[in-house]
Amino acid sequence: MRIGVPKETVPGERRVALVPDSIARLGDGVELIVETGAGAAAGFPDSAYEGAGARVAASDAVYAEADVVCKVQNPSHHEIERLRPGSSLVAFLQPLVNADLVQALAEQGVTSFSMDAIPRITRAQPMDALSSQATVSGYKAALLAATSLGKFFPMLTTAAGTIAPARVLVLGAGVAGLQAIATARRLGAVVSGYDVRPVVKEQVESLGASFLELDVEGAEGVGGYAVALAQDEQERQRELLALHIADSDAVIATALIPGKPAPLLVTEDAVRRMRPGSVVVDLAAEMGGNCAVTQPDETIEFEGVTVIGETNLPSTLPLHASQMYSRNLSSFVGLLVRDGELVVDFEDEIVRETCVTHEGRVVKESVAA
Ligand code: NAI
Repeated sequence: MRIGVPKETVPGERRVALVPDSIARLGDGVELIVETGAGAAAGFPDSAYEGAGARVAASDAVYAEADVVCKVQNPSHHEIERLRPGSSLVAFLQPLVNADLVQALAEQGVTSFSMDAIPRITRAQPMDALSSQATVSGYKAALLAATSLGKFFPMLTTAAGTIAPARVLVLGAGVAGLQAIATARRLGAVVSGYDVRPVVKEQVESLGASFLELDVEGAEGVGGYAVALAQDEQERQRELLALHIADSDAVIATALIPGKPAPLLVTEDAVRRMRPGSVVVDLAAEMGGNCAVTQPDETIEFEGVTVIGETNLPSTLPLHASQMYSRNLSSFVGLLVRDGELVVDFEDEIVRETCVTHEGRVVKESVAA
């Protein structure tokens, strides 16, 4: 069986789906064919792939020969047309918001699996690509906040006076939020974390941050994810949060609800009430943003506050982001491949949850459809 790794084509994407170290994990009877330069932007030259036993070839050969194509980003329509009918694709497909793409994959006769649909069960932890990439985003968000703020993060006692530590508020304490808290704490900031799921209080506190308790009724749904708050609760949440936002030097917002627009937590008025020179890093920018003034993929100044809306932070740390994704992907491919053949076993919960199209049909319905 041949696994193909094309070079990513989305502008600015520096990650690669499989790194040379993962080749040995793919098992016997599996050959890897990698597009020329596919790993270069992540720090993995063609020679490293060849040294690990892969074949490096032009893009046409990768698409023509691969039985399973492994990618990071979802494919363009042009890339879908290049996939061989009967072949398979593994990538971040985001089927809940990409109905057209899913339909095109079905029509092309491609069996596709979405890495963002890996269930949050113990057996699937090594495949959990959402978590690995969120770890990168959370870390980088804290660094961006630190470098954009005109202040130190830590408390300093110097001959030139004592400097008070920066106050950082992290909204949403899932995987990215917890990593942002841990990183901001390591840099010496005074950090508080907030989430609608009360179960995360202990995790926030164990990282040396305080947990912000608002009198808002939140809940945990299927798979440990949050469920959207009722309208009146959302408004109360925003009002209560505004007081704490005004008192923060940096706000890192990471709140998401699967398959839905991101909840609005930081209103325009709340940003206005922040001190000049403060920073908002909005990790939810791609899903509409947690902050009302966020512009996706832009850094703007709003009334003296810097608002950062980067949508692809994992790509800014491409070596480790690729290495982690590659481990997730090779574990997942290991589940699918038996004796050198790809087996789609719908009895397996992980396969059932991740398989989006198979034998010309959409097997996982999209919410957007
Ligand atoms: P996510 O990226 O979907 O959301 C980020 C955070 O935003 C979540 O903690 C969520 O509760 C919070 N949020 C949503 N709406 C909010 C609002 N209105 N106000 C404040 N916060 C809000 O979540 P992520 O990071 O993917 O993790 C979700 C859960 O899954 C976590 O409990 C995590 O520990 C758990 N998990 C379990 C795994 C496993 O068992 N294998 C692996 C990874 C995560």
